[in-house]
Amino acid sequence: MNSEILRRRTLAIISHPDAGKTTLTEKLLLYGGALDLAGSVTAKKKQRDTASDWMELEKKRGISISSTVLQFEYKNYRFNLLDTPGHKDFSEDTYRVLTAVDGAIMIIDGAKGIENQTLKLYEVCKKHKIPVFTFINKFDRPTKMPLTLIDEVEQILGLKTYPVNWPIENGYYFKGVYDRMVKEVHLFERTSGGTYRAPFSVHSIDDNEIKKMMHEEAYNNFIEEVDLLEELQLEFDRDKILQGELSPVYFGSAANNFGVELLLKGFLEHSSPPTPRRTNTGQLLPLNAPFFSAFVFKIQTNMDPMHRDRMVFARVCSGKFERDTKVFNSRNKKEIRLSSSHSVFGKERKTADEAYPGDVIGFITNADFKIGDTISSDINIIFEKIPRFAPEMFAYINNSSTSKYKAFRKGLEHLIAEDIVQTFQLDNNFKSVPLLGALGLLQFEVLQYRLRDEYAVETTLEIMPWTLMRWLENPVESEILKKKLIYSGVSGTDYLKRQVLFFENKWRLETFREKNQEVELLDSITDY
Ligand code: G4P
Repeated sequence: MNSEILRRRTLAIISHPDAGKTTLTEKLLLYGGALDLAGSVTAKKKQRDTASDWMELEKKRGISISSTVLQFEYKNYRFNLLDTPGHKDFSEDTYRVLTAVDGAIMIIDGAKGIENQTLKLYEVCKKHKIPVFTFINKFDRPTKMPLTLIDEVEQILGLKTYPVNWPIENGYYFKGVYDRMVKEVHLFERTSGGTYRAPFSVHSIDDNEIKKMMHEEAYNNFIEEVDLLEELQLEFDRDKILQGELSPVYFGSAANNFGVELLLKGFLEHSSPPTPRRTNTGQLLPLNAPFFSAFVFKIQTNMDPMHRDRMVFARVCSGKFERDTKVFNSRNKKEIRLSSSHSVFGKERKTADEAYPGDVIGFITNADFKIGDTISSDINIIFEKIPRFAPEMFAYINNSSTSKYKAFRKGLEHLIAEDIVQTFQLDNNFKSVPLLGALGLLQFEVLQYRLRDEYAVETTLEIMPWTLMRWLENPVESEILKKKLIYSGVSGTDYLKRQVLFFENKWRLETFREKNQEVELLDSITDY
């Protein structure tokens, strides 16, 4: 049991769209031996609109709604790589996935530096103290200066860095990296289309061959930078990495397989195996507890429209999972038999017979499950709830099919119970439908799609102007609040009647904050 736990690494890749997440995922699979040739994951991405068994909406938009879990083995370690949906499909799922991992790889496009989605995702990692490994990608193209990139991570994200390796030139001249830990230079060779692992040779930094292959000025620059890093005497502190306070940085090119294996090896060496999860009594549940437990971090409906099923994804937190185990949903104390559990590789499902802490199991069920539910063979175990994150888009949904009023109400109620979107009530507003909140437009689209598909109801969206929402740490009397909010925002309540404020933009939020420093605002909250 312990050796199975210790050999697991559960991680996610965070990045801004186009930084190279799909490419790096594919290359990790190539180095992990799960793919013989690179090209198939990206090919799939392009072919999506021809895939027939995928949800209609997904086909139409050519994006992936499902949070897939990829498993691969590398040097006898089992990697569970959880996808964090990005792009227009940015949604609460993206954040929730991060509550189910023990580490993250943050990809930065070397030409662009830190972009806005990287920042948003990093903030969630920071809040959860998730160790973050940085991979600065696309060094085969002209990039910003490596020192500038490191500085951006430190200044914009407020994350201390330790460059584990350092790039030797960039763009057309990108040759390889200098591994500062073992003081070796890795020179890579390009392969056609990056299909195969990149052949490499190892050299010492003062090897004449390196000098010969570079312009004198480029070589001197490189040596100067390496010396400068040494002089800075940055401390490689593994505890700080595991606390999420220090990020090991790797440079490379995912498309060309440069530096990918060094990243994988480094991640393996410096990341942590699964960590115990906190229960609602505040205690950490040992991973090798004598019973199975897991928590639900994602629920996906209609993955396969032929079967209209619902797939519940849970991360195993203790004990060994075996197929057909009888377990309880600790929230409603109902017993369930997990007979159709699956491990998921992309969109292919394989039946999973056993799983250990760190693994993700997916099972098809119509039983009552909610995000954050605990599944366990011990009915009394309940994990700490997954936080709710402040939505950034708000809308009212209106029923266009007036004759279908009942179906509309019923459908909306069911789908809201599935946590597809969050709901709010504005103060002094008497609309019969709640205000809906989401992190991305996709959440609204999924709601509309399912209302049409499952309840035959056509709807329209009325997008509201707010882009920021905050919970109040402590209640404020509504008349007082109204005065405080004048010109800056509006107030309301969430589904648990907790007070919330809505603002149109950051400037208004900051103005409110400055004027009312005694009011504590929260951008995420747990349900109890
Ligand atoms: P994402 O999942 O983060 O959105 O990014 P994805 O991997 O799809 O990569 C976005 C684009 O960046 C792709 O180009 C991909 O080939 C390219 N890319 C990824 N890694 C590297 C790299 O190391 N160097 C360079 N030069 N490009 C890289 P595309 O034009 O959108 O698609 P494709 O035709 O190249 O597949």
